[in-house]
Amino acid sequence: MKRKRRLAGLVSGVLRVALRRRPRTAGVILAAGSGTRMGGEIPKQFLPVLGVPVLIRSVRAFDRCPSIDEIVIVTREGDIQNVEDLCKEYGVSAKLKRVIAGGETRQKSAFLGVEATSKNCRFVAIHDAARCLVTPKIVVSVVKEAYRHRAATAAYPIADTVKRVDRRGRIKETIDRGELLAAATPQAFDRDYYVAVAAYAEKKETSVTDDNALFEAVGQTVYTVNCGSDNFKVTTPDDLVRAEATLRARGEKENGL
Ligand code: C5P
Repeated sequence: MKRKRRLAGLVSGVLRVALRRRPRTAGVILAAGSGTRMGGEIPKQFLPVLGVPVLIRSVRAFDRCPSIDEIVIVTREGDIQNVEDLCKEYGVSAKLKRVIAGGETRQKSAFLGVEATSKNCRFVAIHDAARCLVTPKIVVSVVKEAYRHRAATAAYPIADTVKRVDRRGRIKETIDRGELLAAATPQAFDRDYYVAVAAYAEKKETSVTDDNALFEAVGQTVYTVNCGSDNFKVTTPDDLVRAEATLRARGEKENGL
C-alpha cells in the first residue's frame, strides 16, 4: 500500500514537472472597439450569439484551452465592471487576471493588454473578441507554433480572386490567390519580444492593423496556422447569422449548451 502511494506520488510529481515545461502563456482578448459597422446601440462584443455574448464566447475558448494560464481582457473604460460581471455569470473567471481599459486604436489596446499580463508569462496570444468562433484547439495550434518560432498567427486561405486597383477602382493586376492568406487571430508571440517591437513601433509612430505587422517590420518571420474560415470576425449583422448557423452545425444549442 505504502509503495503504491509512493509510486503515485512520484508519477504525479513527474507529471507536474512535465506540465510545467510548457512556457507560461497569457491570452489577451481585445474588446475595446466601438463596433460601429454593426449598427445599433450595443457594441458587437456584447451581442448574443446563440444566447452567449460574442466576448464571452472568445473568453471561453481561452478559458478551456490547456495552453493558456491567464487571461487579460481589454475593454472600454465604462464596460470594465460589466465584463467582470459577465465573466462570473458565465463561469469563465478562473484564469481571469485583469480587465483593463483599452486605447484609441487596436494596436494601443493590444500593447496595454500585453503589458498587463504577468511578467513571468513567456508567451502571449492576442485575440480579437469579435472572432467568437475560435476554439481551444486553434489557440493550442497557434501557441505551439509560437513556442517554436517566437511569432505565429492564425490565418486562412481566401476564397475570392483579389485584384489590385488604382485610385479610380480600375483593375491593375490579379494577385495570385495561392500566395494570399487572410490574417486572423489569435496571434501569439514571445512576450518580451512583443513588448520590444511594440514599443519601437510606438516610438516610430508606425501604425499597424494587426500585431504580425510589428514583427514583419523588424524582419521577424511570422509563421501561419490554418484556422479555417469559420474563425471569421463578426463585423456586420449578417455575420451574426453566419456565426449562429456555424454553431448550430457544430451541434450547439441555445445558450451555448
Ligand atoms: O475594429 P476591428 O473589428 O478591426 O477590431 C478588432 C478587435 O480589436 C475587436 O475585437 C475590437 O473590440 C478590438 N479593438 C480594441 N481597441 C480598439 C479598437 C478595436 O480592443 N481601440
